[in-house]
Amino acid sequence: MIIIGSDHGGLSLKTALISYLKRRGFEVTDAGTNSDASVDYPDYGQKVAEMVVAGVAELGILICGTGIGMSITANKISGIRAALVTDVFMARMAKEHNNANVLVLGGRILDEQKACDLAGAWLDADFEGGRHQTRLDKITALEKAIPSCK
Ligand code: RB5
Repeated sequence: MIIIGSDHGGLSLKTALISYLKRRGFEVTDAGTNSDASVDYPDYGQKVAEMVVAGVAELGILICGTGIGMSITANKISGIRAALVTDVFMARMAKEHNNANVLVLGGRILDEQKACDLAGAWLDADFEGGRHQTRLDKITALEKAIPSCK
């Protein structure tokens, strides 16, 4: 299952992405927001990130206006590797090299087609492991070593 959340700045892109993901056969859970009213992106970033870390969702997608706030938020949660991407190469690398478990997009910088292309590139890519796993292990070690990350 993929869980997807946004603030008001990402709502319309979230709606488009949910349709795209469902058309592709993915099970999708919408974590909100679902109105244009101004909300705080950390609330939705935390919710999606925690569902991924808990294993309730396999992957997460977060969208705010630029994607910056959501990526800062999600990466505070131990075990989350959230990647803010703006082109297809970055989206593919986010999985192949970084095994990103959360994709972050900017609702005010991407059109719907581009956002679907980025999500598709990330979902269709496979983590390469090997030397990249060694690097991720170092990130995990950092999370364990820094008390504020526990
Ligand atoms: C909300 O106006 C905006 O700050 C938010 O969507 C996001 O861009 C933050 O990084």
